[in-house]
Formats: sequence, structure tokens, C-alpha cells
Amino acid sequence: MSKEVVAIDGPAGAGKSTVAKAVAKRLGFSYLDTGAMYRCIALLALRNSLGPGDGETAANFAINASIEFMPGDPQRVLLDGEDVTELIRTMEIGELASALSAHSNVRKELVKRQKRLCDAGKVVLEGRDTTTVVCPDARLKVYLTASVEARAKRRWLELQAKGDSTPLEEIERQIAQRDERDMTRSDSPLMVADDAVKIDTDAMTVDEVIEAVLAEWNKSLLVS
Ligand code: DC
Repeated sequence: MSKEVVAIDGPAGAGKSTVAKAVAKRLGFSYLDTGAMYRCIALLALRNSLGPGDGETAANFAINASIEFMPGDPQRVLLDGEDVTELIRTMEIGELASALSAHSNVRKELVKRQKRLCDAGKVVLEGRDTTTVVCPDARLKVYLTASVEARAKRRWLELQAKGDSTPLEEIERQIAQRDERDMTRSDSPLMVADDAVKIDTDAMTVDEVIEAVLAEWNKSLLVS
């Protein structure tokens, strides 16, 4: 039987967080940002001078760290009681999270927690393996994507608004590199689940994407 869950996967910068948050709000579901959990482990790794290859120690962090989500706009992320919501949003942490997430022992621990958070249903979760590994029995599975150029442009505009002047070409390069790593790792690579609805957001506004996901949800309710 399928779970009352919307699982959204897709590459970096496809707009998963914005869409997942809005869909959760509209459905009255909670929102689970699985990437934030990998980012928390990356922050601990950085603070302990670990590198991308230190999967064993990172897995220990994944076993022992307390990671909590608290209401807020944006939702607050507490790592061992410390509010790290903004600290985990840098490109550096994103890169390290991507590298550490390739270690199976890190994934195993975080996936265990994520599955538990999904058990009760009424959740919208997003990440790279939520439709394939964390919650393959979600009622609705979505693969959200867009071209590298479109995703880089969005990220560039966000960074510009924050006063960060990283050139567009550099962001494009980083995004392409992250895609490559997330899609080619041996454990749970990012891929389109057989029964996922694929939405290409290149020519869509955020509101259009949100409405498209909600329409798919309504359609899925008729099928059960
Ligand atoms: O979605 P994000 O940018 O916050 O994720 C950061 C990295 O974490 C991403 O590049 C790969 C990893 N990740 C993962 O492997 N599986 C998930 N479900 C979510 C994120």
C-alpha cells in the first residue's frame, strides 16, 4: 500500500526545496529536507578537518549527531542543539555533503532516520534518493529537473541577491560537477524512478511547478 507521502528528487538547483515546502504547506503535510541532513554531517566534517574521503568518521557523526527540524520560515535546522540553518547553505558545504554522501555507511545511517520520519505519512520529502530508496512506496513520486544553464542562472541570481559575486560560469561548472557525482555514485545514485512523474522546469514558473505537483497529487488520489 502506498504511503501518504510526496517524494521529490532531482539535481541541485532544480527548485526542489521551494516546491516541496509550498506543496507541504498546501497539503498540510510536514516537510523533510533530506539534503539538510547530509549538509549537517558535512558541517561536522569541516569543523573536524575531515576530507571528502573520510567516510568512516563521517558515518560515526551520522550515527551520533542530533539533527532536528523546527518550525520557522525558513524551517530551522538544529545540529546538536545549535541552529545551523544558514551555516549549512554554502557551496563549500554542498560540495562536501555531495562527496560524503557517496559513502554507503553515511547513507545507511541517514536513510534509516529518514525512513522513520516518513513512516507516519503526511510528509513531503525531497532529495536525491527519496523516490528510489527512502520512500519508494510514496503515493506520489516526482523527478524535478531543469537544464544546467537554467539551474546555474537561478543559483547565480540567489547569490547575487546575497552580495556574492561568483561568476555564472563558475556556478555552472560546480553544478555540472555535482550532477556528475550525485548521478554516478555506486550507492543510490540520483535517477528517475520508473513510476515517477518527470517535470522539466526550464520554461515554468515556480507557481506553475507547484500547481503541476498538486495536480499530480490529486490525480494520484483517484487511482488508489
Ligand atoms: O539537496 P542538497 O543540495 O541540499 O544536497 C546536498 C548533497 O547531499 C547532494 O549533492 C547529495 C547529497 N544528498 C543525497 O545524497 N541524498 C539525498 N537524499 C539528499 C542529498
